[in-house]
Amino acid sequence: MDPLPIIFTVVLLAGGLYWFVFLLGSAEQKGKHAVHLTGGSIHHSNVKETYNQYWFFFRRPKHIEESENVPAFVDTFYNLVTDIYEWGWGQSFHFSPAIKGKSNLESTKIHEQMAVDLIGVKAGQKILDAGCGVGGPMRAIVSHSGCNVTGITINEYQVNRAKAHNKKAGLSHLCDVVCGNFLNMPFEDETFNGAYSIEATCHAPKLEDVYSEIFRVLKPGAMYVSYEWVTTELFNGEDPEHVEVIQGIERGDALPGLRNYSDIADVAKKVGFEVVKEKDLAKPPAGPWWSRLKMGRIAYWRNHVVVTVLEAIGVAPKGTVDVHEMLFKTADYLTRGGESGIFTPMHMILCRKPEKVQES
Ligand SMILES: C[S@@+](CC[C@H](N)C(=O)[O-])C[C@H]1O[C@@H](n2cnc3c(N)ncnc32)[C@H](O)[C@@H]1O
Ligand SMILES: *[C@@H]1O[C@H](CO)[C@@H](O)[C@H](O)[C@H]1NC(C)=O
Ligand SMILES: *[C@@H]1O[C@H](CO)[C@@H](O)[C@H](O)[C@H]1NC(C)=O
Repeated sequence: MDPLPIIFTVVLLAGGLYWFVFLLGSAEQKGKHAVHLTGGSIHHSNVKETYNQYWFFFRRPKHIEESENVPAFVDTFYNLVTDIYEWGWGQSFHFSPAIKGKSNLESTKIHEQMAVDLIGVKAGQKILDAGCGVGGPMRAIVSHSGCNVTGITINEYQVNRAKAHNKKAGLSHLCDVVCGNFLNMPFEDETFNGAYSIEATCHAPKLEDVYSEIFRVLKPGAMYVSYEWVTTELFNGEDPEHVEVIQGIERGDALPGLRNYSDIADVAKKVGFEVVKEKDLAKPPAGPWWSRLKMGRIAYWRNHVVVTVLEAIGVAPKGTVDVHEMLFKTADYLTRGGESGIFTPMHMILCRKPEKVQES
């Protein structure tokens, strides 16, 4: 038999497979490939069971608000999703308005740089990133501002990822990453010249608890900006469809209950901040932040085939397919929340700690 057609077929198949696994879809695959998916700090053999525990906890939103277990389950959630996020989304675990003519990576960076521009800090000053993920925002922010950033995340696996990325980017000397709970931070009072949190404080059962901690560690006169996940003025708690969408977002993103947009400034004032500015950055003329999720549906389908195969042959831990599927369903709820306008992941609040703290 003529070997040429066989060689040709093999090359074509291999090329097709390469294209399917590595090139197809919109994911920014930087530093994470599908064959390296793990359950974070969870042992390979426990991923499925841990996912089941997570789901059991977060599908009952009523119990969650009083629960002291929230940070532990948020930690579990990030063990389960961190690799999948890095593989399918990138190193910045947040949304940003779509900008015409700009890539996802560029519009993400613009959204991050805006945060540090808002708090008006100078090069060499020390700022806090509360809920820092694997540090995508931190790296953009030190590069843009010349500040030193200390990030805190509850998830140890993320600390290791963030440190490795910082080193690779040559930014370790400006970035510090600490594993800890932002409801009780391991920092002295009045340590930082500024602070920001990007889509992270939504995981706190009580916003007051995290805002008061941030207030405590800021120097007098320093500013804090947060991008909050909230329901908007269009959300109607009596509308079953609205409720379904919001609960879908909460369960699939480890949230103890989304807050009403109007609660945010109240809490900031209650812990002592002056509210300088508040704005929903998702409002037109901003481009839709959810368009990236919609376009990602083809990539999801490809990724789903990839994780199913990898799980079946034992490369990815058992449970990876479940986690991936949960994230896909959640993406649909997020899209519905964005399109209907009942939800925003970028309600921006800018606050200042007064120069003289009021004696009480
Ligand atoms: C959606 S991610 C955003 C990460 C990062 N800000 C970014 O934009 O890439 C939320 C982050 O908040 C962190 N987080 C949630 N609850 C926390 C807590 N109680 N203490 C510290 N970090 C927490 C998570 O570990 C995760 O890193
Ligand atoms: C910030 O980082 C620079 C460069 O490593 C260092 O010289 C400086 O002391 C740091 N500043 C603070 C406040 O940590
Ligand atoms: C959100 O807060 C506004 C202003 O306080 C209030 O009018 C509205 O009813 C609240 N929405 C929900 C769903 O609680």
